Amino acid sequence: MTQQTNWNRVYDDTIKWIKEAGEEIMSSFTTSFNIESKSNPNDLVTDIDKQTEKFFIQKIKGTYPNHRIMGEEGFGDKIEDLDGVIWFLDPIDGTMNFVHQQTNFAISIGIYEDGVGKLAFIYDVTKDELYHCKKGSGLYLNDKKVKPLQSTNLSESLLAINATWVTENHRIDPRTFSPLLKKIRGTRSYGSAAIEMAFVAAGRLDGYVSLRLAPWDFAAGKMLIEEAGGICTTVDNKEIDLLDKNTIFVGTPKFHSQVQKEYIQPALDQNFYLRTPSTK
Ligand code: IPD
Ligand code: CA
Ligand code: CA
Repeated sequence: MTQQTNWNRVYDDTIKWIKEAGEEIMSSFTTSFNIESKSNPNDLVTDIDKQTEKFFIQKIKGTYPNHRIMGEEGFGDKIEDLDGVIWFLDPIDGTMNFVHQQTNFAISIGIYEDGVGKLAFIYDVTKDELYHCKKGSGLYLNDKKVKPLQSTNLSESLLAINATWVTENHRIDPRTFSPLLKKIRGTRSYGSAAIEMAFVAAGRLDGYVSLRLAPWDFAAGKMLIEEAGGICTTVDNKEIDLLDKNTIFVGTPKFHSQVQKEYIQPALDQNFYLRTPSTK
């Protein structure tokens, strides 16, 4: 018999652990930490990323032994299906910011059951801003309920995008977004996918696009955005695969549909390239 999950308890525990982990991360600023690179010289990991992931894994496994964890640093489980309860955990999203700036990074946790989002948390540690939701209960920023997303005209919209995607790269033809960038009010780049997605959910941005994100980067943000009434798809408007790397395009409903129809689809119709970063 499958055990019923007490989601209110999981919710309270997660907030408690996030705040504890946040304090530990803040206290690391006064000590020196080790920095290594992973897949390339710009893909950084520190002792603090690893310690934070281990901290959560110990708490989760100690309290909820049946739950599984997909963590960026690899101390969790090998996840090949979406059965049961899965925690998607990025202990520090925005490690480059953490290393260079000691700000603009977040703890990101999305908890899903049988592939359906149940709870989501993005904690902007140095601002002490926790974006969180229980499925169906609305989006909160700390203890304040966030207003449902408003739609703006494209000419008054802000999009978060990394400059990588408008210069030569392997994933998308750099000409794809040029006409859109001329049309909208402005672009932003914060260096943390989790913060960028939380900002879309909270109405601080109208959209965010990335051509290469992993499940621990987007699982919490996807749920927060959907809870706020926003849309979260791949760049070519398909459903996101929680078990794989994806291209990601999120936004308010109007921004998402207008950009898809008037900018992305016409680029694809002209055979501009778009390559999915699948790990399979
Ligand atoms: C990265 C950040 C960054 C995004 C990268 C991610 P990390 O996560 O979210 O903004 O552009 O694709 O890998 O490595 O700092 O956890
Ligand atoms: Ca990340
Ligand atoms: Ca990370």
